Amino acid sequence: MGENFVLVLLLVASLVQILVAAPVYNPRQLSLPSQLNPYPTKPRLSFRPDGTFKITVFSDLHFGENAWDVWGPQQDVNSTRLMRKVLADEKPDYVFINGDLITGENTFRENSTVYIDEIVAPLNEVKVPFSSTHGNHDNQANITHLEEILREQRDAPLSYTRVAPPGVGGEYGPGNYWVPIYAHPADFQPALIIWAFDSRGQLMLNY
Ligand SMILES: *[C@@H]1O[C@H](CO)[C@@H](O)[C@H](O)[C@H]1NC(C)=O
Ligand SMILES: *[C@@H]1O[C@H](CO)[C@@H](O)[C@H](O)[C@H]1NC(C)=O
Ligand SMILES: *[C@@H]1O[C@H](CO)[C@@H](O)[C@H](O)[C@H]1NC(C)=O
Repeated sequence: MGENFVLVLLLVASLVQILVAAPVYNPRQLSLPSQLNPYPTKPRLSFRPDGTFKITVFSDLHFGENAWDVWGPQQDVNSTRLMRKVLADEKPDYVFINGDLITGENTFRENSTVYIDEIVAPLNEVKVPFSSTHGNHDNQANITHLEEILREQRDAPLSYTRVAPPGVGGEYGPGNYWVPIYAHPADFQPALIIWAFDSRGQLMLNY
């Protein structure tokens, strides 16, 4: 009888162990409705083991100024050099790029989004997840917020920038999205949500 009791206890103990261990592979995570998992093909973003999460913000990069002068392209080279230095020093878990990414009124129709490639190059090199939001200079005669976002999505594997559903924001302001950050990679609920709202700056020009 004593032996049976010990056996039952052992069984109960292993069952408890299985139940406790199970949440590491939370089955609910696998069946998340798509609107709760907007990044099914990208890594889930989570805090570091010490519970921190460092975000670096780059603002008003204004690439593409005066392509016809020496100082314009040189300024962009200097900006990417600074980005590389900041990324190496800070080693952020996420980067947010505020508008204006590009001085759109200085760009040419045929190559206005090539500057996105220059901007994302330092981020691609260190494989840091990031996203962006756009400003009034990113909506100009030869460029729109949508064009910049599509170029970024094409050229940066770790871009978390998304386009709002059809009818929200339009070509001049589709950059409305949220990015879930989890305390632990297998958590069901995010511990932090990064929201981006597109101001549709310069929309009134109606090009
Ligand atoms: C670029 O950086 C160099 C070296 O720091 C500096 O001398 C130069 O003035 C900068 N050029 C521009 C256009 O900012
Ligand atoms: C837009 O691009 C075209 C073609 O490159 C160029 O001729 C025009 O000056 C640009 N418009 C503006 C407002 O910069
Ligand atoms: C974009 O095109 C313009 C006009 O052809 C040119 O002056 C400029 O250097 C080009 N910019 C880039 C980054 O290739």
